[in-house]
Amino acid sequence: MHSHWPRLDEIAYGGDYNPDHWPEPVWEQDVALMREAGVNLVSVGVFSWASLEPRPGEYEFGWLDRVLALLHEAGIAVDLGTPTAAPPPWFLHQHPRARPVTRDGQVLGGGSRQSYCPSSDDYARAATGITAQLAQRYGRHPAVVLWHVNNEYGAPIAECYCDASAAAFRAWLRARYGDLGTLNERWGGAFWSQRYGDWDEIDAPRTSATVVNPALRLDFARFSSEALLDCFRRERDILRRLAPGVPVTTNFMANNSKSTDYWRWAGEVDVISNDNYLIAERTDGYLDLAMSADLARSLGGGAPWLLMEHSTSAVSWQPRNIAKRPGEMRRNSLAHLARGADGLLFFQWRASPFGAEKHHSAMLPQGGTSTRIWHEVTALGAELGGLADLRGGRVEPDIAMIWDWESWWALELEWRPSVDLDYLERVRAWYAAAWRSGLTVDFAHPESDLSRYPLVVVPQLYLTGPAAASNLGNYVSAGGTLLTGYFSGIVDAWDRVYPGAYPGALREVLGITVEEWLPLRPAERVRLTWEDGADGTADSWTEVVQLAGAKPVVRYADGPAAGGPAVTRHGFGAGEAWYVSARADPVTTARILAAACEPAGVTPGQHPDVEIVRRARDGERFITLINHGENTAQVMAGGQPVTIPAGDVVVLRPTASAERDA
Ligand code: GLA
Repeated sequence: MHSHWPRLDEIAYGGDYNPDHWPEPVWEQDVALMREAGVNLVSVGVFSWASLEPRPGEYEFGWLDRVLALLHEAGIAVDLGTPTAAPPPWFLHQHPRARPVTRDGQVLGGGSRQSYCPSSDDYARAATGITAQLAQRYGRHPAVVLWHVNNEYGAPIAECYCDASAAAFRAWLRARYGDLGTLNERWGGAFWSQRYGDWDEIDAPRTSATVVNPALRLDFARFSSEALLDCFRRERDILRRLAPGVPVTTNFMANNSKSTDYWRWAGEVDVISNDNYLIAERTDGYLDLAMSADLARSLGGGAPWLLMEHSTSAVSWQPRNIAKRPGEMRRNSLAHLARGADGLLFFQWRASPFGAEKHHSAMLPQGGTSTRIWHEVTALGAELGGLADLRGGRVEPDIAMIWDWESWWALELEWRPSVDLDYLERVRAWYAAAWRSGLTVDFAHPESDLSRYPLVVVPQLYLTGPAAASNLGNYVSAGGTLLTGYFSGIVDAWDRVYPGAYPGALREVLGITVEEWLPLRPAERVRLTWEDGADGTADSWTEVVQLAGAKPVVRYADGPAAGGPAVTRHGFGAGEAWYVSARADPVTTARILAAACEPAGVTPGQHPDVEIVRRARDGERFITLINHGENTAQVMAGGQPVTIPAGDVVVLRPTASAERDA
């Protein structure tokens, strides 16, 4: 990643700004109110293609010229969008074959956004055209400090099954395998008569009579992520050529985008930017928020990143769009800041008067400036001014957690041992245990250098390639502690089971074999017993585990695996590898994590409701403490007791004592 941060002297603060929704007189009011709120960066024109190019090749830039001039005069910088996520009606009318096709063969219509096939040549030409025009006209504009390419690639259309996509897939396969013999071997062509004799026989894996070859599905997932990435690269390269020196980003959805392998994307953007929306039904949404922020930071190798979008209050696309409570938006914002963001933007500046998202919250709500939200927005803007010292600070992680898109894809294909296998559920469970134990998590690719982490948690890594397996093994033998969840190390990159006993890729390091999986019925629950006599429970998944050098830590007290080991630990070289074969309840999960922290020399902490994150810069450490609970909390931080009122945030500065950061 190039990581060059937009030229800004403060923590970036602002949101998506869609001036083309409003008559011009409103713009001056907007800019005045932005200044009042402390806004210094806005994303402009993200979906404005039809306003900028109302007819093919005919451009209307006057309005954007005036908007940028107004913003610049007011000292507000611009993150300029390429509007290619919203092809105008003329595009789909002229190029009906560019419409995306679903796996079921449904051709999607227009009247919305993000309706285009990533492999369409017509789309490529049109997107190149508008991007080049924008780059030429605004590439040296003093207000433009960042380019915002497209929007949330992959949402909601990540895979297109049209003929053009199928042809592009075949070309991708040829480049990957060279010859059909290799492809047939990797894909297990002998099964169900799947051997291909000609490249043209390969189609996109559309809905079929029954389960489609999982290796074909996996390669199509890889291809689809890559096809979207090619769309990004195409625009980025135009911008770099015509607007040199201005960083380029596209907004990720970290843990919410299954279809884009962001480990492959991260190195292609100049700045990591991320969108995060709470699932409002969840009362512990701050856990997912923290996970998303940690993943965004980790994708950029720990460099400061930009929160491109979150919401001041309710969104408009969930079944029940529950409003944020007073103080919640501030806690959310400061949690992102604590976890490495150097900028906090919202969707969107002013609530839209019409269209699909008019009921979405905004910095300036439909009710204007006499609203609670507006007061919280201006208060936060003022508060950020006093927190500018955090900029550039690096978050200090305690442990690492393995995150892998390929394994996620493979795990959730059809015909797995249980429908309850759910990648995000497992990561969330371990992440929640770490969060509630006061441990800050870096996410890591399974093949990355893990040596700086005393403890690495592998929530679930069903697909474990040989390079990942040896990386994890080397990490342990060099002294690391590995904590691995069930159904890991089972298959290679083509969903082929490793020979011998499960879990083939990790058997040696874990010192166990898994003889049989014993998934449970929905309401079934088994009891667990620790070697020291303590109790726990598990549901959904159990296994018959045979010891092959490992020692039991917890056993099954009843259920189909009764008497057998449920959790094991294995000395391997200078380190230890732990294995958890059951879906343990949250208390037991936290206990297992705490037990594995011991050999790793990690000290779990503190208060289950208080988020504590350290960010350091130039030898100075800032500690952010956020109390998500309903009672005043007391914790030790920076060597002193700190009191945090319910719902409040305290930022401990390097020199100060337990001073409240108002
Ligand atoms: C996404 C999009 C935005 C907007 C918000 C609403 O993140 O990028 O354009 O639709 O959702 O929550």
